[in-house]
Amino acid sequence: MSDSYVLAIDNGTTSTRAIVFDRMGNKCGTGQLETTQIFPHSGWVEHDPQEIWANTKKVIEFAVEDAGVKPEQIRAIGITNQRETTVIWDKETGLPLYNAIVWQDTRTQQLVDRLAANADGSFDFNKLKEKTGLPLASYFSATKIMWIFENVPHARKLAAHNKLAFGTIDSWLLWNLTGVHATDVTNASRTLLMNLHTLEWDAELLRFFDIPQEILPEIKSSSEIYGISQEVLPGVPVSGILGDQQAATFGQAAFSSGEAKNTYGTGNFLIFNTGHDIVHSRNGLLTTVAYKLGEQPPNYALEGSIAVTGSLIQWLRDNLGIISSASEIEELAASVEDNGGAYFVPAFSGLFAPHWRPDARGVIVGLTRYVNKAHIARAALEAVAFQTREVLDATNADTGLPLKEVRVDGGMIANNLLMQFQADILGVPVVRPVIAETTALGAAYAAGLAVGYWQSTDELRSLWQEQSRWEPRFSEEERSRRLRVWNKAVEKSLNWVDI
Ligand code: G3P
Repeated sequence: MSDSYVLAIDNGTTSTRAIVFDRMGNKCGTGQLETTQIFPHSGWVEHDPQEIWANTKKVIEFAVEDAGVKPEQIRAIGITNQRETTVIWDKETGLPLYNAIVWQDTRTQQLVDRLAANADGSFDFNKLKEKTGLPLASYFSATKIMWIFENVPHARKLAAHNKLAFGTIDSWLLWNLTGVHATDVTNASRTLLMNLHTLEWDAELLRFFDIPQEILPEIKSSSEIYGISQEVLPGVPVSGILGDQQAATFGQAAFSSGEAKNTYGTGNFLIFNTGHDIVHSRNGLLTTVAYKLGEQPPNYALEGSIAVTGSLIQWLRDNLGIISSASEIEELAASVEDNGGAYFVPAFSGLFAPHWRPDARGVIVGLTRYVNKAHIARAALEAVAFQTREVLDATNADTGLPLKEVRVDGGMIANNLLMQFQADILGVPVVRPVIAETTALGAAYAAGLAVGYWQSTDELRSLWQEQSRWEPRFSEEERSRRLRVWNKAVEKSLNWVDI
């Protein structure tokens, strides 16, 4: 019998990729296409769902070709995706009613304020947090769905005739691949509509947000056969779905309580596995589902979500033009010894964890005539590390189990300057695995487990290997001094928008 493989589709915020993995978790072939970022107004971020589907089909072909394998050698397909991003489509035509409203989009802040004002006092907001693990914020899908109902003519009517479907990107891709309307628990846990305890849509929350249950996908586990692919790789089961941050946690083999990872993508997301316990944060973290394998009980997690990290580097490239490619940032930042006194708080979508301040906006402070573009580049990289320190502090405070090291993944871990500064500012080592494509790998693992390609999480754990390690070098005094200035800069970013 010829060798077989698992293919993962990874739709992130900036691109869609497909990767073919072998049994050892090695990357055998890749395809990647950028996603057009649509900014219709300040604070709005959209994607074209049809472009995402068209790109998905192409990258699957590219990856299979690049791997030099035959389509029939693919045993299973896994999907991982940017979470919360909301698509609503007509089930009869298959056409979206509106562009995908991306997780970073803040257009629904007024809607959030309206709900929070909760005129008749009939809804208990503690209950929302208790049931979903999330605060009421524009980040999650619920108010994005409401916005579409309030702004797209006929949406309600189509829903009333059971012709409307909602999905995060995993559902949109699954629907197009197989015709099945479903999602997994990790993606459902980011909507503000799923009850963490029952892992089902919650009738009270649906009433509160005025969202009809008929439009919602069926919630399934993260590892089971959801359907069979029809158009691309026909006959291959789609058998793994995980939101991208949960997929990276799975790909890092952080399967057990107390294990964690930090991903450097468009934003940064630190996930701390809390095992079968639902732990509520007192320090600004989210409670979320880490994964659920078939009929087994779910694992939960605490999450520190930072909205802007990698996208800050893109912003320096696209909006300021001080670098022409993202990879140039390291050389530019390394051309100066320090930040020259400049601190950059990239609160472009307000501040997420641990602050949750929609009124914040980006600031660069500490400017003098001495500061040049290299200092700004350095301040941008440092901002990524400072924000990670904030969520690590929150995680340590919530769990009482200070992390002794942090496993990292994502595009920016190729940046040695950043990784060293990250270790310096965290005060604990930063560790990178050999297979750094952990997001796609996690989805492949979930898909492979469901079809018996891999047998157990123990087998997957044995595939994890350390590649590099950065040790902290700052003295405690130096670290504290820099954190004090960072905190002052954060203060400056607050109360900027009158909401
Ligand atoms: O919650 C948003 C997150 O899933 C997006 O991830 O990798 O596209 O920054 P990424």
